Amino acid sequence: MLESEQSIAKIIELVDRAVWVVTSAAGGRRSGLLASWVTPSSLDPLMPLVNLSLNDRNFTTELIQQSGSFSLHLLRLNQTALALSFGLRSGRDIDKFEGLQTTIGATGAPVLTDCLAALDCRLIHKVQIADRLYVWGRAVSGRLPHPAIPLSERALLASANPEQRTALQSQRERDANLQRVAWQSLLASDPTVGSTGHFHS
Ligand SMILES: Cc1cc2nc3c(=O)[nH]c(=O)nc-3n(C[C@H](O)[C@H](O)[C@H](O)COP(=O)(O)O)c2cc1C
Repeated sequence: MLESEQSIAKIIELVDRAVWVVTSAAGGRRSGLLASWVTPSSLDPLMPLVNLSLNDRNFTTELIQQSGSFSLHLLRLNQTALALSFGLRSGRDIDKFEGLQTTIGATGAPVLTDCLAALDCRLIHKVQIADRLYVWGRAVSGRLPHPAIPLSERALLASANPEQRTALQSQRERDANLQRVAWQSLLASDPTVGSTGHFHS
């Protein structure tokens, strides 16, 4: 990495974000993923919205599009193992819910019983950009049994053992490479963007 790229990476790493378990179910199948690109995106308490950036290759993304619903969960600081179990393997290969207590929310999405907080959401809008599907959900119900500080990405990484750290790092590199290719192809097909990737009028 160039020195300027390292400075940019350091600046971006200053921002810590909560990690959320996003679950969904459709056609008798269910899955969930760990997500840090989740942003509350409404000023209107009568229309509480959340925006998620989802990798379109993830199984959960497919289920959200099929069902039109999902649940979001914040975790307690001691739920790092649960977070990694949703973030490192695909629900196409394993049942991530095995041994976990769940209920079904009003939207039909699975809701984890043991978490810090849960929001049941209806999908109301989506936009595909490069390799990401940006979805907006409207929260229709919420559960916050014991308010506390939620597990964040930084705390999760700090708790990971060397093997988990390697797995997280290699997943990140794989996704970053795919993202780079997707953005390059998007920019190349946009007549308002030059080959440098800079917008011009
Ligand atoms: C800290 C962390 C944050 C992540 N954030 C996101 C995210 O915001 N969006 C996303 O689509 N995937 C994210 N992932 C990756 C998914 O959790 C991961 O690919 C998961 O295994 C997908 O499972 P699925 O195929 O069952 O849906 C993240 C993973 C980690 C470890």
